[in-house]
Amino acid sequence: MADKDNIKETKDYGVGIPQATNGFHVKGCNNYGWGMKSRLSKIFNPQSGRTLMLAFDHGYFLGPTSGLERLDLKIPPLAPYIDVFMGTRGALSACIEPALSYQKAVALRCSSGSSILNDDLSFEKVSVSIEEAVRMNADCMAIQVFIGAKGQLSSIENVSKAIDTGNSYGIPTMGVVAVGKEMERTPQYFRLATRMIAEFGAQIVKCYYCDDFETVTASCPVPIVIAGGKKLPEKEALDMCYNALARGAAGVDMGRNIFQSDAPVAMVQAVRAIVHDGIDSKEAYDMYQELKNK
Ligand code: 5RP
Repeated sequence: MADKDNIKETKDYGVGIPQATNGFHVKGCNNYGWGMKSRLSKIFNPQSGRTLMLAFDHGYFLGPTSGLERLDLKIPPLAPYIDVFMGTRGALSACIEPALSYQKAVALRCSSGSSILNDDLSFEKVSVSIEEAVRMNADCMAIQVFIGAKGQLSSIENVSKAIDTGNSYGIPTMGVVAVGKEMERTPQYFRLATRMIAEFGAQIVKCYYCDDFETVTASCPVPIVIAGGKKLPEKEALDMCYNALARGAAGVDMGRNIFQSDAPVAMVQAVRAIVHDGIDSKEAYDMYQELKNK
């Protein structure tokens, strides 16, 4: 066992030196089989190498979040502009017509176990079986991981179990870095958590944007998609997307900054243009305003 007191805080992240992908467009995933790579190619566009996921899984512990009181009304108009639906099986099967998933991927929320009524949210279980993930045509399974929290061990068991079963069926796992009381939003924390999740074998890691984000992406050997976090003014949210991608993120998995926007359909198009068309956040904000005022 390595002695943790002797771990030197190295600063050599090799920022700017891309990790060799050996011909497959998804970082760190060249050594998987056909089914896994096919699903990853539905998530990450082979042309841009990036993804726009729409997160609407908040209800699994928050109930009807502001902006998501009616999934059936809010999500379908956004669908044409996204690559991936990220939701629970209940939300998907009750509120999203299967035909809307034509040429889209599904990131299925597969962990749960606490609610806003609990002081400690860090104890979850894998709550969807692999057979159900297959029935839902999941392209990846999303599992919350609570590094540094009381529920760390059980969440590592959860993500490891999902990775084991996902690998058997060719379904990627997305480890979702949780933040909370014990988990600071610092580069040190995100480097630790994202790297741990990648080393457990997750094919995708979701985490928040932070300072020195290029060191987080450089030291994580699989793609990172950023969570949007709490609602920001639209220009700030677009700046965050642009900066995250410029610093090595492979996409965004955004919820509140889209569905709580004054103009969600305009906002999702502006985010999409940053992710896939390479425009900057100023151009994207101009686009947002133009679409909003139409
Ligand atoms: C919670 C999640 C959520 O899907 C995600 O964080 C919500 O997206 P946003 O923060 O953009 O509203 O994974 O752990």
